[in-house]
Amino acid sequence: MTTCSAPGKVYLFGEHAVVYGEPAVPCAVERRARVSVEPRADGRVRVDAADLSLDGFTVTWGGGVDDRPDVDVPTPLLSAATEYIEAAVDQAREAAGAPETGFDITVESDIPLGAGLGSSAAVVVAGIDAATRALGTELDPEEVARRAYRAEYEVQDGQASRADTYCSAMGGAVRVEGDDTRTIDAPPLPFVVGYDGGAGDTGRLVAGVRTLREEHDFAADTVATIGDLTREGERLLAAADPETEPDDELLAELGQLMDFNHGLLEALGVSSRSLDAMVWAAREAGAHGSKLTGAGGGGCTVALDSSDETEHALGYTAECEQSFRAELATEGVRVEV
Ligand code: MEV
Repeated sequence: MTTCSAPGKVYLFGEHAVVYGEPAVPCAVERRARVSVEPRADGRVRVDAADLSLDGFTVTWGGGVDDRPDVDVPTPLLSAATEYIEAAVDQAREAAGAPETGFDITVESDIPLGAGLGSSAAVVVAGIDAATRALGTELDPEEVARRAYRAEYEVQDGQASRADTYCSAMGGAVRVEGDDTRTIDAPPLPFVVGYDGGAGDTGRLVAGVRTLREEHDFAADTVATIGDLTREGERLLAAADPETEPDDELLAELGQLMDFNHGLLEALGVSSRSLDAMVWAAREAGAHGSKLTGAGGGGCTVALDSSDETEHALGYTAECEQSFRAELATEGVRVEV
């Protein structure tokens, strides 16, 4: 049995705009998906995915990739999870030159599905690494990221940037602009995540922004403005000492940009009542800034706050099901022993 894990992520800046070639800065956080893989001789793929949390429920799913899982919580998200695993298996088979190999696969994840924390990217990244290693092929994390991007691109009908998969494979803070991907230095930022228990439909949200951008100049300008503020945020991170806790002045400047970013995402129609409620609860609790993270529509917000106030206030916010502090995950995909 070979087990690999990969972290989820929050977007400090730049989701959606990154799809149109603007830069984005996602940061990996210490919430991981673990994928265990055992090759099997008969070419079949069986998947057991317990603990995939969804709308606040925990779903246990045992089934085959070919014959769809038999679950009593029918959901497009769960079948999307199947598609991501299928795509990861295809990438691993190709990378290892073993197109006929079957696998027993177990997926465990403490990243809520479809909630903006990069659950699908983490599963795909960990799955490709585990399956290729199980076949005796070791890919470097950059190659895992490239293949994971291809898998996501396929499942999302060509509507994916490299941001989620690159961040999950490499860990830490990264910068993505089109095909240009790199890790960047960032101080240990005090992220606080709020989760409304729901999820957004990434494909539909990305398509919605695409249409808006095609039909309205303001939307194209909004996307470009998100790019501008992301570049401003990058300059702040580049000037900071990555070894030192960030001071209040830096947090205030980054937080203000996060607030701007949230407003612009709202203008693009990807926020929701619960995401807005959590963003405002964080701001009122004294967070330096707060925004939705990921595709939006529901799911998670991220705030910057070194104190316990935001986590506490979110705990009392009706729209928030769970709040937690999220440490920057300096390690990306890794083998679990
Ligand atoms: C989804 O986590 C982030 C989006 O920017 C889509 C993408 O980058 O593929 C909305």
